[in-house]
Amino acid sequence: MAKEKTTFTCNACGGTSPRWLGKCPGCGAWNALVETVAESASGGKNRLSQPQGYAGLANAQPVTPLSAIEAQDVARTPSGIEELDRVLGGGVVEGGVVLIGGDPGIGKSTLLLQAMDALHRLGLPTLYVTGEESGAQVALRSRRLGLDHSQVNVLAEIQLEKILATLEATQPAVVVIDSIQTVYSDQLSSAPGSVAQVRECAAHLTRAAKTTGITIILVGHVTKDGALAGPRVLEHMVDTVLYFEGDTHSNFRLVRAIKNRFGAVNEIGVFAMTEKGLKGVTNPSAIFLSQHSEPVPGSCVLVTLEGTRPMLVEIQALVDQGGPAARRLSVGLDRDRLAMLLAVLNRHAGVVCADQDVFVNAVGGVRINEPAADLAVMLAITSSLRGKALPKGFIAFGEVGLAGEVRPAPRGQERLKEAAKLGFTMAVVPKANAPKKAIPGLTIHAVERVDEAMNIVRGMG
Ligand SMILES: Nc1ncnc2c1ncn2[C@@H]1O[C@H](COP(=O)(O)OP(=O)(O)OP(=O)(O)O)[C@@H](O)[C@H]1O
Ligand SMILES: [Mg+2]
Repeated sequence: MAKEKTTFTCNACGGTSPRWLGKCPGCGAWNALVETVAESASGGKNRLSQPQGYAGLANAQPVTPLSAIEAQDVARTPSGIEELDRVLGGGVVEGGVVLIGGDPGIGKSTLLLQAMDALHRLGLPTLYVTGEESGAQVALRSRRLGLDHSQVNVLAEIQLEKILATLEATQPAVVVIDSIQTVYSDQLSSAPGSVAQVRECAAHLTRAAKTTGITIILVGHVTKDGALAGPRVLEHMVDTVLYFEGDTHSNFRLVRAIKNRFGAVNEIGVFAMTEKGLKGVTNPSAIFLSQHSEPVPGSCVLVTLEGTRPMLVEIQALVDQGGPAARRLSVGLDRDRLAMLLAVLNRHAGVVCADQDVFVNAVGGVRINEPAADLAVMLAITSSLRGKALPKGFIAFGEVGLAGEVRPAPRGQERLKEAAKLGFTMAVVPKANAPKKAIPGLTIHAVERVDEAMNIVRGMG
């Protein structure tokens, strides 16, 4: 195939250069020039900037009022893997593009192979394009997963043009590209995996999905700090972005929807990794609790809300004598927020940790983003500092503000009911979340300020 002319576009200012330069001549940004295929239609000169108007360039197009456009509900096919369907917003959507990212070895290929097989059994023609493994490796995995007679088609290919031609010829309904970082286009001279290649290939595949109605699922690598590798624009381009989370040392894996044009975000799917692949966990409420026979200092159970489901997660804290520079580290929680909470504890509750190292951890490799975790984090820290365990059957949730106020968490009733259902007996919650009607078996302490919460806990033991 003949090579089209390429040019280099600045990610920061949009300026172009015929050559790659370390520094953009337009805005001076470093390392911002990215190779792109040059548009040939403009004849080398941008006619839009001419003052004669646009009529000579193109014909005006008819416009339509929204009410006159026939709008059909998107056609969804549930894969039958309930936890995956939940994060997708009900199933795979015709013409939808899904990007799924996650740490190496977390189970992306496993889940997608299982999903492809399930969809194939439902009568959808599927294609699994593998760029990272050989066809034999994929076949081996399918045998291990017990999918011995799987009819999923496999294509071991990394050249975009060949992949697109195969899609055109075989007309599958759902395609997995494992992974987008291995795919390269002949049109660009940069290496597979480079920002330019990933962007260009994803754009072509997205266009193909929209014009043909094929559902395309792209697997994306993540960088060391957990973000999807490649250009951020990839996340804008696709309809749905899913992230695999979880500790590779534990069996549980979470799939979280970060963006979804066809469903709710922040919904999570919970899976357990078994020898036969990923199995959905339909009732995940209490899997992120460690099994202490007696309460231990530095531990507080939080009721968090993931998408539509309340879940109980143990927050652990360790406060220990620090060196000259005290450390603040967190796993599964935001470190900046931890620093803020320590300042609030100091100022509004008189709990001083200035010369102490503070470590906090959300058990089970789960990542907690919601501010409603604040109160539980603070209670775990004070419990560790005092060396006194919180009472058995204790839970907490609530957002804490800089003025020391405890703000309500969304859907407090559901959280409390879930805790009661799992046998928890005592709760410290924001005043606005206190239920009007008592919840059987649960003693609720409603608080408006952080110091009130600390006093209640101090009075307990
Ligand atoms: N024989 C086996 N028995 C049980 N579990 C296995 C076996 N082989 C692999 N696994 C599990 O499958 C995981 C690998 O899953 P998978 O290849 O789907 O990950 P991935 O996210 O696609 O990784 P990569 O980023 O390398 O492509 C391993 O981490 C391991 O937990
Ligand atoms: Mg893989």
